[in-house]
Formats: sequence, C-alpha cells, structure tokens
Amino acid sequence: MKFSSAFTIALLAAHALCAADLTGTWVVVPAGPDGKPATSMLIAGGPPPPVVNYFIAAKGDTFAGYLSQGQNNSAITDGKVDGDNVTFNVIRQFGGNDIKVAYSAKITADGLTITIPVPAGRGGGGRGRGPAFGFGAPPVATAAATPPQPMLQFLRRTSTAVPPPMPVPPAKETLNPPAAGVKYDGLAKTPPMGWNSWNKFQARVNDQVVRDVADAMVKNGMRDAGYVYVNIDDTWEGTRDAQGNIRANEKFPDMKALADYVHSKGLKLGIYSSPGPKTCAGYEGSYQHEAQDAQTWAAWGIDYLKYDWCSATQVYTPDSQPGAYAKMGQALLDAGLASGHPIVYSLCQYGQVDVGTWGANAGGNLWRTTGDISDNWASMSNIGFTQQIGREKFSGPGHWNDPDMLEIGNGGMTDTEYRTHMSLWSLLAAPLLAGNDLRSVAPDILEILTNKEVIAIDQDPLGKQGVQVSKDGDAEVWARTLADGSIAVGLFNRGATQIPVAANWSALGISGAYKARDLWAHADRGTGSDEFWANVPSHGVVLLKLTK
Ligand code: GLA
Repeated sequence: MKFSSAFTIALLAAHALCAADLTGTWVVVPAGPDGKPATSMLIAGGPPPPVVNYFIAAKGDTFAGYLSQGQNNSAITDGKVDGDNVTFNVIRQFGGNDIKVAYSAKITADGLTITIPVPAGRGGGGRGRGPAFGFGAPPVATAAATPPQPMLQFLRRTSTAVPPPMPVPPAKETLNPPAAGVKYDGLAKTPPMGWNSWNKFQARVNDQVVRDVADAMVKNGMRDAGYVYVNIDDTWEGTRDAQGNIRANEKFPDMKALADYVHSKGLKLGIYSSPGPKTCAGYEGSYQHEAQDAQTWAAWGIDYLKYDWCSATQVYTPDSQPGAYAKMGQALLDAGLASGHPIVYSLCQYGQVDVGTWGANAGGNLWRTTGDISDNWASMSNIGFTQQIGREKFSGPGHWNDPDMLEIGNGGMTDTEYRTHMSLWSLLAAPLLAGNDLRSVAPDILEILTNKEVIAIDQDPLGKQGVQVSKDGDAEVWARTLADGSIAVGLFNRGATQIPVAANWSALGISGAYKARDLWAHADRGTGSDEFWANVPSHGVVLLKLTK
C-alpha cells in the first residue's frame, strides 16, 4: 500500500513536470475589438481573412512542424516548451534565401498567443510638434516615441492528430524576359503622385473609404496640387469565377462603378496584385492569369497597378523576376492599347535582383528600391538617405526609383521630420503617394503635402534624380539639377541637436552668383557666389532653389 501511494505521487509529479503537448493543427483567429482572440473568424465589415494554420508535431518538450498560408509553407524548427513559455524558429524565404525568424508564444486557457517579432530595422521615432521652420531656431524636444510593437497572433487547436509532413513544394519555374523588352507605354513622364491605402488603412480599405478619400482630395486641394492617383492596395481581392476572372471581395461591390466615381472627380484609380498565387496579405494573386487580369482591370477603368512579388517566391526562381514582371508589363500594355486606357505599372519587389537594370525593360514606370517604410525617423531616414545612393543612374522620365510611399501625417514623426521626408523624396524624384487619412488632415500636414514649390522640384520635367553631394557627420547636402538650369539643394541634419549645414558651390559643381530661395519659408535669401549655410534643427532640412 505504502509503495503504491508513493508511486502515484511520483507519477503525478512527473506529469506536472511534463511539457504541454502542442501536437496538432492550430488555426490563427483574428483579434476582437478588445485585442483578445475573437470568437468569430470574420472581421466586422470585411471578408474572411486568409486561413493561416500551424501544424505541430511534438516530442517531449521539443517540437517541429510548419506554418501554412495558402500554398505558402514555412518550416518551424527548434520548438521548445518550458512551462507556459514556448519558443521556435520560422524559416522564411527572402530573395531566395532562408531567414530564421525567432518567435515566442505563451500557452493560455484559450490556446496559444504568439508574438511575431518586429522586422529588423523598424526602430522607434519621435513624435511631437516641431519648431517653426527657419534659420537658427533650436528644436523643441519631441514627445517620447512609441516604438513599433511586435504583433500578437492568437491560435486555437482544431485537431490533436499528428499532422502530415510539410508538402514538398513543386519545382520552381524560371521565366526569361522577352529579348526585345516591353515597349515604353509613354506614361509617368514625371513621378506619379496620388494616394495609397496601405500605410494608414491596410485591410480596412473599402469602397466607401476610397470614395471619401477621393472627395476629400478634391476639397482639400490635394488633387489640384497634383495628387491624382487613388490607389487601392492589398485586400480588395475576392475569388475567381468559373472562367477564371478575378472578382473583388465584398468590400468592393462594384469596381467599375468605383472607377467611374473616382474618374468623375478628375482622379484616377489604382489597384494591386502579385505575380505569385497569393498577395502579401494572402489574397488572390495574378499567377497564370496575367493577361486575363490586365484585361479585367482595363475593363473596370483601372489606371495604375502595383505588382508585389510576395508569394511569387514559391513558384519562380529569384532570377525569374525580370521575366515575371515583363509578363505583366506586356499584358498591361496590350490591355491598355486594346481599351485605349493605359495603366501605369509599379513594380514592388523591394529593390531585389538589381531592379534598376531591368525594371524599365519589364515595362515598369516605377519600382520599389527598399523594404516597407514605417512611420518613424529611423525607417524613413535610412531609406531616404542610405538606401538610394547609386540608384540615380536608373531613374528618368517614364521610369522612377520608388523609395516607398509617404508616411507624412500618420503621427509617428514630427512636422520637422515630415518636411525632411517630403524634401528628400522630392530631391530623389520619387513618386509622391500620400499614405495618411486624407478624409481628415491637420492643416500643418496639408501644408507639407501641398507645398507647390517643393512639389515642383519633385515634378521637374528634366527628371534627373538628386544625389548626395557632401556628408560631414550628421550634415548632408543633397542636390538635383532642374530643367531650367537651377539647382535644388537640401541642407539636412540627421543628428539630435541643431547644427550649421553648408552647401559649397564647388561641391555643387557650380560657380558664380546664385540667388537662393527657401522653399519651406517661401522666402528669398539673397545672392551668394561661394557657399550657402543655415542652422538646421535636429532631423530637419533647409530646402533651397539656387538660380543664376
Ligand atoms: C508588401 C508591400 C507593401 C504593401 C503590402 C500589402 O509588404 O511592400 O507596400 O503593399 O505588401 O500586403
């Protein structure tokens, strides 16, 4: 008897020490309005989100498996359970390479709560009202930053059966571009300007939001300042009909009617897809439906396509990018010619495989040069100052480098920083796609976005992208030659305290007397023949136009 009760206690203790067995199939459930796991898979007002499953096979306190979204599977390795704490790696593919991403999770009463880490390079930024722009005025300290938060994902177990092994992916196709390249469509003689839904709305974009934004752009002067494209990003896509025609999901009941509405406001409508089977957010892509989709969009009256690589990684080898992009480039050209309705073509493959060397040949009017921008100083300044260097040789009328959409007005940076964002993008001859909620814009933000003198730099018809002409610690001078022979010059301060920044005529490659115009102060600053300097606040800019 004694022996048997001791044995029972030992068994219980062993059980208590034993790690939870996570074996089975787990499904991601959306967060409800309270931030807790929702009881339904439906997000109010939206289509069902794409299904994401975790398939896990455990052995004691270790496990492995895979994460699955559509045809996209990512291996899970090095899984460990320690009490309620779970850690594992997800093997992600980026540019043809395997990248290990470390996840952590907690076992809860409801299931599992996973923390997906913030991607590298997305630091925090300052927020607060900056000082009035000018010479010598020191900056007001900004409020503490809210750094981007890791994303939570809620999982519920739908089966405890040992899952089948990860399916072996089909062999990847290699696609070569046509030798002659895709003919230039004659569009985007200056960098496209407009608005895109992603930075602010993500999956919350719908027909009403687009109509309201279009109305607002007419009322608040954005349209008249040159912002004409109203671009719907990811999450509009529904299923295909029996003939394979793409349909919008329930958020967009009638795309043709929406295009007609947007056109009636003197604006143009843009849309989004992927060369892969699925978009980045897991919706239907254009894989094997390229010509058919281009024709559908042309019939709807779409004026602009952003084409995002995403799951194309699953079906094409990385060196297929020029071929895969040319395939849609040709399809858009053909559909545009047939309908008399040309479509601007925006490549989004994060600047991989030297896109500048082949983007125009694939029919691209613009191509992304970086990963996704975030609304903070670290992200914006790293993209704008660091990642564009050397790319100017690929840019010009009809084909532009795209350092990603604007974050101006989204709240993560100061006005001073947003003026730097606008100035730098204009010097870079970058597309200007506002990414904020244009239905309600604060006057200071509207003033930044619609500064005509700055927009004129971006839209200069020579189309010559600016370059960094000098760098001295945090002081950087960038310059761009304009069609009338004048020069746009940005005196930037990337540091934390105000400093003087000087533009030297010899560094600018000019000599003789030049008049200086301050494009943010809208004021003439006299004439000089060797150098112009200004005290520039932290993270700020003085943007000049120098004219003979
Ligand atoms: C990628 C793109 C973003 C946005 C999202 C949508 O991350 O780079 O600009 O289009 O996909 O899913």
